[in-house]
Amino acid sequence: MDALNLLKTRTSAPMLTEPAPEGATLDAILDAALRAPDHGKLRPWRFVLIRGAAREKFGDVLVETLKAREPGVSDAVLQKEREKPLRAPLIITVVATVQKDHPKIPEIEQILAGGAAAENVMLAANAQGFGAQWKTGAPTYDPKVKAALGLKATDEIIGFMYLGTSTGPVMPGKPMDRSQHIVEWTGAAA
Ligand SMILES: Cc1cc2nc3c(=O)[nH]c(=O)nc-3n(C[C@H](O)[C@H](O)[C@H](O)COP(=O)(O)O)c2cc1C
Repeated sequence: MDALNLLKTRTSAPMLTEPAPEGATLDAILDAALRAPDHGKLRPWRFVLIRGAAREKFGDVLVETLKAREPGVSDAVLQKEREKPLRAPLIITVVATVQKDHPKIPEIEQILAGGAAAENVMLAANAQGFGAQWKTGAPTYDPKVKAALGLKATDEIIGFMYLGTSTGPVMPGKPMDRSQHIVEWTGAAA
């Protein structure tokens, strides 16, 4: 697929299975992520790969941290939480190692660089025939989850990028009403 068509037709893949991208395919995804734009050459990206049996260990982390956030949560909810990482054969956790109080680059720009890397992960996966979905939720912002992944409290998890082979129906993107989103500026408002 040519690059422009890929950009214009990207959709998330809600149902993913084996095989995951690996080897040269995975390297290409990570290389694409490392080419994301970044103000000040801070190179704030970190990528924490979770795959194979480690997904079960990450499920344990999700359960323990959910219990800490929400004491009394039901066993059914905990079980669902435990199984979440098994929904894809590979999770690339995209992280921005934010430098607080950087003299020139505001925090938001460091986080945006992480977001650009996350999008590149999805697009590079799609370009090679793999499905991807960007997931977040409460664990993304939980310091205990960050610590379990070897991250600092100041690191920002940009997203858990679920990657694999798409099995389910992929909803084609609806045509957007361009007038709701795009304007042409012709001068300052009076
Ligand atoms: C920052 C961010 C976080 C997201 N977190 C979740 C999430 O936790 N769970 C979820 O089902 N979708 C989440 N989404 C949305 C999906 O990944 C997806 O973009 C959405 O379902 C729209 O589908 P599309 O990408 O095919 O247009 C998130 C998207 C973004 C940009």
